[in-house]
Amino acid sequence: MMPTLRVFTSFCCSAGLAIAVRVPSSHNGRPALVVPTLPEVRAILAQLQGPIVSTLIARAALPAEPSLYSDGGRFLTSFIHKKEVVAQATGRYTYGTLEYPFTLPLVSPDTITSINSFPGGVFHQDTYTPNPGLLSFYLRTLVALLGDANAAVEGTSIFFHLTQPAGPADRDTKFTLDAQLLASLSHRASIGKVVAEAKFNANITAYTPLIQSRDRGSLRVLLTNTTQEQVVLDGAANASLELATAWETAQAASPTISTNFITRVQIAVAEVYRELIDMTTDVEMEYLLQRLD
Ligand SMILES: *[C@@H]1O[C@H](CO)[C@@H](O)[C@H](O)[C@H]1NC(C)=O
Ligand SMILES: *[C@@H]1O[C@H](CO)[C@@H](O)[C@H](O)[C@H]1NC(C)=O
Ligand SMILES: *[C@@H]1O[C@H](CO)[C@@H](O)[C@H](O)[C@H]1NC(C)=O
Repeated sequence: MMPTLRVFTSFCCSAGLAIAVRVPSSHNGRPALVVPTLPEVRAILAQLQGPIVSTLIARAALPAEPSLYSDGGRFLTSFIHKKEVVAQATGRYTYGTLEYPFTLPLVSPDTITSINSFPGGVFHQDTYTPNPGLLSFYLRTLVALLGDANAAVEGTSIFFHLTQPAGPADRDTKFTLDAQLLASLSHRASIGKVVAEAKFNANITAYTPLIQSRDRGSLRVLLTNTTQEQVVLDGAANASLELATAWETAQAASPTISTNFITRVQIAVAEVYRELIDMTTDVEMEYLLQRLD
């Protein structure tokens, strides 16, 4: 028998989240990790909304400076790479953290053996990461939306500085927020692996033949719950309205500036959450397609 389920959450440097419990038995030197139930995972995902929206607003308050991203993201990825080398040394990307780097090799996948059968409800590491698609969305779509929101504040936002930020001296702040937002979105989407395991475990007889026949269409139908998607989109819309309004109130911005900034932040957050839901479904799908390997 698996021990009683517990979920550990921790908000350290990255709103990072350890989401499964260690079981004493281990395989290949890795712990067996029992995933939470679907309602528990969803409750955790809801807690990641605030940090994601707050980081997006903080980034939107700084000038977008599109030239920082005009080289296909090379400046940003080289900034992220340096951070990831340090993060890797601290164990951020080890087995079961559900943190996956953008610029470093991923943790190796699990293989089912006779000793190690991976029963339903136990996390099974796959090789998929949403990160390339996420980075491309960020550069292609989100940078422009952040720029639109920033244009609305007309240079009035002082963020946490006494002077209005501009120029190279502020690039570290911008890239730090970009890196933080990307890591949070990646982590949020990667929790889809745990969502998929919880769904698989709740209906192994329905999922197994679809995985074996690699029936992506039917798997997608079984994985998708549009009612739940709407709950997530509504929650994100609520959070963006509340947090962007609080931000503008704190800055004593004029009503016109406030309205424009809040509206454009809401557009950006809605785009991010639509993308996040689709990326998470892809993560769930790819996780399941390797689940019986
Ligand atoms: C499993 O999924 C099948 C196909 O969607 C459905 O008919 C069945 O009721 C589900 N069983 C459980 C226990 O949810
Ligand atoms: C879909 O999600 C809603 C809202 O979370 C939930 O009440 C419902 O039971 C879910 N439907 C299925 C088929 O899992
Ligand atoms: C969003 O806000 C509306 C209006 O306050 C509320 O009725 C709804 O329950 C909220 N939805 C979520 C998912 O937080």
